[in-house]
Amino acid sequence: PTTRRFQFNVQWKKVTRLCHTKPLLTVNGKYPGPTIAVHEGDNVEVKVTNLIATNTTIHWHGIRQLRTGWADGPAYVTQCPIRGGQSYTYKFSVVDHRGTLLWHAHYSWQRVSVHGAFIIYPRMPYPFKAPIQDEVPIIFGEWWNEDAEEVEREMMRTGDGPKISEAYTINGMPGPLYPCSNKDTFIQNVVPGKTYLLRIINAALNGELFFAIANHTLTVVEIDGLYTKPFTTTAIMITPGQTTNVLLTADQAPDYSAMFPMAANTYVTSIFPFDNSTTMGFLRYTTITTPRAKPLNRPAVYSLSSLYNLPQMKDTAFATGFSSKLRSLASAQYPCNVPKTIDKRIVTTISLNLQDCPANQTCKGYNGKRFFASMNNQSFIRPFESILESHYKNLTNHLFSSDFPEKPPTTFNYTGVNPFTSNMNTQFGTKLLVVPYGSSLEIVIQGTSFLSVENHPIHFHGHNFFIVGRGFGNFDVNKDPQNYNLVDPPERNTVGVPTGGWAAIRFKADNPGVWFIHCHLEEHTSWGLAMALVVQNGPNPSQCLLPPPADLPSC
Ligand code: C2O
Repeated sequence: PTTRRFQFNVQWKKVTRLCHTKPLLTVNGKYPGPTIAVHEGDNVEVKVTNLIATNTTIHWHGIRQLRTGWADGPAYVTQCPIRGGQSYTYKFSVVDHRGTLLWHAHYSWQRVSVHGAFIIYPRMPYPFKAPIQDEVPIIFGEWWNEDAEEVEREMMRTGDGPKISEAYTINGMPGPLYPCSNKDTFIQNVVPGKTYLLRIINAALNGELFFAIANHTLTVVEIDGLYTKPFTTTAIMITPGQTTNVLLTADQAPDYSAMFPMAANTYVTSIFPFDNSTTMGFLRYTTITTPRAKPLNRPAVYSLSSLYNLPQMKDTAFATGFSSKLRSLASAQYPCNVPKTIDKRIVTTISLNLQDCPANQTCKGYNGKRFFASMNNQSFIRPFESILESHYKNLTNHLFSSDFPEKPPTTFNYTGVNPFTSNMNTQFGTKLLVVPYGSSLEIVIQGTSFLSVENHPIHFHGHNFFIVGRGFGNFDVNKDPQNYNLVDPPERNTVGVPTGGWAAIRFKADNPGVWFIHCHLEEHTSWGLAMALVVQNGPNPSQCLLPPPADLPSC
């Protein structure tokens, strides 16, 4: 296989958006960061050099890191951070991977600006038929006038939340609906009649998004780097950490209008203040033969009204309907390997919680309390050392334990629960879920809707999984498994657990190592909506974690 090498310099760069200039953390001075494009089966080496004073790490989101957990990236889970002035080379291969993924920083809230597309060209032709004129990354992000790491620090100090950005962005551009942002608008040229592959990536910190293009439909062909049965939709729903490939045909008469708005806005049903702002860009019809036949300016009026197909902020019906249309391709070439039987079912709640404020402090959370979050009432704390390294070296220490509860402490029940008084006894610590190599697992993720009615995007490192079932209300172990899809369930690395409901996922734990599992809303990760899965080594040497690289940072 070919080895592709990249150099990432993590450095500050002055960037202006919304008439606000600030030092922004970047890779190689780019915002969004550089695209990594490789081919299925390649070896990849990215040398990350930290040119700033604080720590950093990079995560290759959706790359399984089979036996190479040392290259996965989450700080204090698989590695100690790369300190200022140091370098670390992430080495891994992309065998059995194809499609659109992303990379991002995995230290504090650095992901806000340290992110980019990770594209793997497939060995085989695309399983969908369309001559593709061009491939276009569409990366959603957030612009914060404040330094995002500082926002996190302050939020953790005061227990405050939720925090919202100044703007959503398309490829780093907020677009004309924000103040002082007209010139920072993303515009994509298209040739009438041609078809484009949009590689849509949600790299936003906390925004689950709808996305639509006026007058155009989108045909979904891939999610999280895995092919789907194609279906056509007027809009998509995409959570932070998810990627979606869609086909777009420029099928409007070129003289109908030169420009069509595209936009993304939040999906959230929270009772707390929310960000209902909209980032907008444009599709510009143009022709190759007469490139300057039409004026290249934006239309004078940027109205959302032409985007009748963009769902409203609380449109749970659209979010649910969209998710239920997703199916694995499940073809002879790309079979669906969902486990038909399981070795173990784990049920975990995912919850926001309130805690009493420490005596000598004032808390700005809710009702004088501070926010936290948990899974099975365990609020995850990352120790200041690498869990993977301790696990590999068999170090026993007091920093973590192997007793993550396999079910909630008390059976969760939506009925008769007062979210402000019930089930708030969160424990803080680092409890790991340890499973033998090769276990077929089912994990039922039960949202509790405490404090916010939110669709939590739960992301797994190290494994993709199949979403075999979803539903609203309480998961019923006697009924719900009978309705699972074990034929062509969607496979992905990040599942949006339905607001006020649950999702059941299945996968084979065949990747030895320590794997972070967390809500991809950065705020919730900070609050502890996370855990780590330890997959033990298998009996054969080829089923064991490889030894750590020599340049692995130490704490
Ligand atoms: Cu994309 Cu642990 O995250």
